[in-house]
Amino acid sequence: MRLFAISDLHLGHTVNRQALSNIISRPDDWLILAGDVGETATQLELAFKSLRPRFAQLVWVPGNHELWTLPKETARGRSKYEELVGLCRSYRVLTPEDPYPIVAFGGRQVRIAPLFLLYDYSFRPPDVPREAALEWANEAGIVCADEVFLHPDPYAGIVEWCHARCELTEARLQAFRNDLPTVLINHFPLRADLATLPRIPRFSLWCGTRRTEDWHLRFNAIVVVSGHLHIRSTSYRDGVRFEEVSLGYPHQWTGSTTIDRCVREILPGVTSMERRAV
Ligand SMILES: [Fe+2]
Ligand SMILES: [Fe+2]
Repeated sequence: MRLFAISDLHLGHTVNRQALSNIISRPDDWLILAGDVGETATQLELAFKSLRPRFAQLVWVPGNHELWTLPKETARGRSKYEELVGLCRSYRVLTPEDPYPIVAFGGRQVRIAPLFLLYDYSFRPPDVPREAALEWANEAGIVCADEVFLHPDPYAGIVEWCHARCELTEARLQAFRNDLPTVLINHFPLRADLATLPRIPRFSLWCGTRRTEDWHLRFNAIVVVSGHLHIRSTSYRDGVRFEEVSLGYPHQWTGSTTIDRCVREILPGVTSMERRAV
């Protein structure tokens, strides 16, 4: 049994929707969907209907896009998230609200931890105060659509929602002895030094929280899986593998790869030694 991952399917785009059927069936294996499947519950359901029969188990974490409230929709913030978790349960898809399962991939037991942590604008230079952060991004013409569509209800703001999620999740992870390696899955990268966007560097504000900088060490991660950046990569920090597994918008992948090549094997995967030798 193997563990695979892909994120940022963005099924609101016709080309991405059409490509979904080209993901090869792996009926013995698990597939992580690491957020931004789409912008609506209908698009999330489309992914489940299409992929659930092709994998033994799906694991989902929310991206920012799934949490948007579009015109004519009513559910906002946490209610929107809870609605999506309900949809996942109806398809028996694992979410950050479920107990973290222990599974053996390639004969090695790991704890699978889907996380929902958001961002708090802290991925910014030290000389930019929090109050000036949005202005700092605006100066470069950068503003994330989340500022319009992602509502933090019932929290005072996205920062408070992010910190509440971090505290809740930290307590859950701390409850485990470090007896098993973990696979940490979050839509947003866990470290600022991995949230580098060469073309739009100040977009980093909407990319994570510094609170999770050392979670890969504290919580015994063997692999950390994320998306959001739409820049596929494999990186190492402190010997831990970080996989960015985005598909992205059509212009970011069509012509250069196929959707199935963007389905990344996470475990057993290749070791760092093997990867360097490739
Ligand atoms: Fe995305
Ligand atoms: Fe995203």
